[in-house]
Amino acid sequence: MTNERKSCEVVFHVRRFNPETDEKPYWQQFTVKVEPGMTVLDGLHQIKRQHDFSLAWRYSCRMGVCGSCGMLINGSATLACNTQILDISDRNLTIAALPNFKIIRDLVSDLSPMFEKHVAVLPYMLRDDIQEMHEPTGEYYQSPDDLLEYLQFTYCIKCGCCMAACPTMATDDAFLGPQPLAQAYRYTIDNRDDGTDRRKKAVTVEHGLFRCHYGGECSAVCPKGVDPARAIQLMKKQLFFDFLKLTKHKTPAHVLGRPEGVERNPKIPEPPPYTVEQE
Ligand code: FES
Repeated sequence: MTNERKSCEVVFHVRRFNPETDEKPYWQQFTVKVEPGMTVLDGLHQIKRQHDFSLAWRYSCRMGVCGSCGMLINGSATLACNTQILDISDRNLTIAALPNFKIIRDLVSDLSPMFEKHVAVLPYMLRDDIQEMHEPTGEYYQSPDDLLEYLQFTYCIKCGCCMAACPTMATDDAFLGPQPLAQAYRYTIDNRDDGTDRRKKAVTVEHGLFRCHYGGECSAVCPKGVDPARAIQLMKKQLFFDFLKLTKHKTPAHVLGRPEGVERNPKIPEPPPYTVEQE
């Protein structure tokens, strides 16, 4: 971390890979003249202008809105346009494509599996009353509190940083992942939506919701302050209580009591009374 902001030279260690010509990725170094306020995206442009025009990355808005410029910067998945170089280092930067995705070229990851999973969780409003949806006779009322239930999840820009940081994604590329799951929750919790049952089916697949081990990295890296780990846990809770209602249990198994003949350990206090109706 730099305290004083002044011009300096920073070495960018960039992981390069062209699947058409390279057998495997390799690292290349570029020295970039950095001015205070320069972002990593600005540094990449300088490399392209002054050193190597073949360096590839993706960007569009330059202002943390489009989600195109997600990459791994000094080991953390983040947006290049939203990261000032001198906030991180005045000497060295390592830059690589987002992990947990195939590399299209250099710093460009193939995010299409994320978008396919996103579509699979039905990330849009579903209404039972189709006629009313297409020819509304009134407004769908929603209070400020109703809005706050899902508002933070609407800030997702689909940059893929949460998917790249997820330890479950690293070992199971079929896992739906934090971005689609958070969006499934966003619509499920919206009180104008009737698609809860269909969406729950979509997330309780083999590599779905319950594969999440709650590492929490997705929420730690999100550049927009979205908390996918929270969405996933809340959705698990919803499904758990659905299951209890379905099986007519009044209390979860862990507080149902000891099997017959098993003595209670006096050092462990009795759990408090707990019923579905209290939720
Ligand atoms: S260029 Fe749009 S988010 Fe970075």
